[in-house]
Amino acid sequence: MPAGCGIALEKSAARRYNKPRYNGRKGRPPLRMRRKSNLPLRLARCAEYIIPAPEAPRGGWTDAFPNAAPASGFRALHAELGCGKGLFIGGAASAAADVLFVGIERVADAAVVAAERAREAGLRNVRFIIDDVSCLPTVFAPGELGLVYINFCDPWPGKKRAKRRLTSDGYLSLYADALAPGGEIRFKTDSAELFGFSLERFKASGFALSGITRDLHGETGEGVPSAAGSFAVMTDYERKFHSQGVKICACAATKPYPGTTP
Ligand SMILES: C[S@@+](CC[C@H](N)C(=O)[O-])C[C@H]1O[C@@H](n2cnc3c(N)ncnc32)[C@H](O)[C@@H]1O
Repeated sequence: MPAGCGIALEKSAARRYNKPRYNGRKGRPPLRMRRKSNLPLRLARCAEYIIPAPEAPRGGWTDAFPNAAPASGFRALHAELGCGKGLFIGGAASAAADVLFVGIERVADAAVVAAERAREAGLRNVRFIIDDVSCLPTVFAPGELGLVYINFCDPWPGKKRAKRRLTSDGYLSLYADALAPGGEIRFKTDSAELFGFSLERFKASGFALSGITRDLHGETGEGVPSAAGSFAVMTDYERKFHSQGVKICACAATKPYPGTTP
């Protein structure tokens, strides 16, 4: 059995993970998640999708699931950080069977829905880690990731809590280590403030910016990310905001090759 597969989460672990940490979104009511009943049982049913010891495949993720990989193996590893209930990661994974997708989500109530959706869709190329994004260095070897998706992360308004934003400098240095040169962060948000902050921090952290848009679904044409693959796959939050007419901001931030400047 491949590393980390098929081991059911212990009840106590499920309880530990099951601490919802919701924060309201400025100006809009938070999308609250009902506490899931039977969480340990539901996690156990999806055990093949949830990796309880994600340090084990570190450095060898694309070879860790030979029975799930296509004949030629997985060609790349992508991670979604704060994947929530997994609409995006499921859509992206079904469009790229030769890529292994890993969703990291610290709230078990959300992650279990993502895993159930993956199981219902029969996806073989997606796995989930129930933990904080700060686990990245223990889970991925330097340069192991080809792409990082950050979709609608919590905006954490105010200076005091800015460090908690998934696009703040501390987190960006984790992504810079885990990404291969030329690897990208693909970022989407409904928060114009968070978007402005994130563009600054990407630049300051040495990433090269491209495909910047403040109306992802309203703009078309060359260079606009809505025209390009995974940017078109909607997340749960995006579907809701888009249906309310909220404009979505997006960009790509690329890690430069050594010796080049962004
Ligand atoms: C606003 S929701 C967006 C969910 C999903 N990406 C979407 O667009 O529908 C943010 C999600 O990120 C998760 N999250 C926030 N900070 C996190 C962290 N440091 N580590 C892991 N997950 C985190 C939250 O639990 C929540 O499920």
